[in-house]
Amino acid sequence: MKYNVAGIELQLIEGDIAAQPDIEAVVNAANAQLKTGGGVAGAIHRAAGPKLEEACRDLAPIQVGEAVITSAFKLPNKYVVHTLGPVYGQDKPEAELLARCYKNSLHLVEECQLKSVAFPAISTGVFGYPIKEAAEISLKTVKETAEELKKIKLIRFVLYSRSDFKVYSAVAEKIFD
Ligand code: APR
Repeated sequence: MKYNVAGIELQLIEGDIAAQPDIEAVVNAANAQLKTGGGVAGAIHRAAGPKLEEACRDLAPIQVGEAVITSAFKLPNKYVVHTLGPVYGQDKPEAELLARCYKNSLHLVEECQLKSVAFPAISTGVFGYPIKEAAEISLKTVKETAEELKKIKLIRFVLYSRSDFKVYSAVAEKIFD
């Protein structure tokens, strides 16, 4: 699915965040220590190789909602943005913290003069954020932030399952149509 949001192409696809070769920066649903993990963090660190964890060492720990950037090493991208999502039911106010992950990541990508970025559904795996609520927050945040972005031309959401893709698509239709 594709939308035009203030001159930026917004795409929703079903896929693997570690397999997006046409994107300059991919976003990692990181842990505070920026170490490898399960889900997105596992896929990104496996594909990038051990140098990614080394590069992360000096940047950790990060706070919930914060975003930092490193090289992407063996991934087919230039950079990885690492952001720490809220644990649902624990880190409060969770909606604001989740929105901050997207906003800070987008601003960081913009500061680095990059044209394209791909996001996973941050916090919706191990951290337990319900997918529909997370979709609403992430897509609304893109809508609100898009006006402030001059360099970014493509924002892609990479959803890992068909059902998550369908939830995102339904929410996007309401927000952007
Ligand atoms: N590509 C895209 N999306 C993926 C992939 C992948 N390769 N693998 C998993 N996902 C999806 C999950 O299905 C979920 O919807 O990404 C979403 C986020 O899941 P997690 O990776 O579990 O991220 P999060 O909920 O933010 O939890 C972060 O998990 O791996 C640990 O170290 C990490 O402690 C941190 C925590």
